[in-house]
Amino acid sequence: MSKTMRAAYLPGNSTVEMRTVPVPTPGHGEVLLAMKASTICGSDIRCIYHEHLGKGPEGYQGVIAGHEPAGKIVEAGPGCRRFKTGDRVIVYHISGCGVCNDCRRGFMISCTSPTYRRAYGWQRDGGMAEYMIAEEKDLILLPDSLSYADGAQVACGFGTVYEGLEKIGINGNDAVLITGLGPVGLAAGALCRKLGAQKIIGIDIAQERLDLALQLGLCDLVLASGPDNVAQVRDLTAGNGVERAVECSANADARATAIRATRKWGKMVMIGEGGTVSFNPSPDIIHDQKTIYGSWVTSTWRMEELVERLVRWELHPEDIITHRFSLEKADEAYALMASGRCGKVAVCPKKKE
Ligand SMILES: NC(=O)c1ccc[n+]([C@@H]2O[C@H](COP(=O)([O-])OP(=O)(O)OC[C@H]3O[C@@H](n4cnc5c(N)ncnc54)[C@H](O)[C@@H]3O)[C@@H](O)[C@H]2O)c1
Ligand SMILES: [Zn+2]
Ligand SMILES: [Zn+2]
Repeated sequence: MSKTMRAAYLPGNSTVEMRTVPVPTPGHGEVLLAMKASTICGSDIRCIYHEHLGKGPEGYQGVIAGHEPAGKIVEAGPGCRRFKTGDRVIVYHISGCGVCNDCRRGFMISCTSPTYRRAYGWQRDGGMAEYMIAEEKDLILLPDSLSYADGAQVACGFGTVYEGLEKIGINGNDAVLITGLGPVGLAAGALCRKLGAQKIIGIDIAQERLDLALQLGLCDLVLASGPDNVAQVRDLTAGNGVERAVECSANADARATAIRATRKWGKMVMIGEGGTVSFNPSPDIIHDQKTIYGSWVTSTWRMEELVERLVRWELHPEDIITHRFSLEKADEAYALMASGRCGKVAVCPKKKE
């Protein structure tokens, strides 16, 4: 094995810098992964790619980029208890201290340790490289029937959405509204289908994304974002509004639409991050007895559950990938994702693995 590897960094001026760096050695409880797929998230663009805007958990510390990795273990360090060389794995994208209350719930995303909470691709080296070090406790086994490109999307994209949907509950009674049809919104469509949602309505500003949601069969109806959206959604639901809404745009207007287009006694979950929203509590939620949930990523056990469901449902997250790039072309991959003229963008081999 070569002693050096290629790796992508995000200097914060809408470019990608490729560097040659040493291949790291796994320490105690760590594994070395040969990277097989690494997908790009809206958060990478929002907080890092254009400018290093993120703070705290979204603060980028100049590490190898990429927080949606999947790979094969090529070396297990001393003290590993479950995973071994040759295992195909997904990485839960935040490594926590393991002993705070949130970590003990499996939610390392909200680990409270300022010293030990480090997210891959943000505060510790991530997946946009030939190899990557991960802690064994952050690994989820990837079944053979799922590809690495499926796996890369389980943590941040599909896992996040699955968590949010489990909070609000989705079933065959429901008409569901999804605001924002980026990769996260598309994942919401795919999972709502499998959970039995009866009618799925999507809203976006980008025509490409509305078209893609229909083409992939992830929405039944799509609407261009605009001031009439609440009335349009009511028209499509016998005047009532939707039982469930999933907000995946982070846009203030779309958030207000999601709240207002949810029917009486309905539930909605906010997943899109950053920005603001303004609404009128009494008419918009209180008098209609509505519930708004916030949902941040997912837990390791829920990720394992999702992987099991993906196999049962024969649902392949990689179906929302529209563009694949080699690692050396990571710059093109980030630029495309920043343009929004795409579905999910992945750095991975062209052939399925
Ligand atoms: N809560 C969490 O744990 C979590 C995890 C992952 C990602 N996220 C967030 O989820 C969001 C979506 O992620 P993504 O990767 O799909 O990003 P993305 O930027 O590709 O998707 C956002 C979509 O919203 C659309 N949009 C913008 N303004 C709109 C409007 N007025 N009406 C309707 N749609 C509008 C955009 O066109 C785009 O398609 C991001 O904010 C990301 O940071 C949250
Ligand atoms: Zn992400
Ligand atoms: Zn912790």
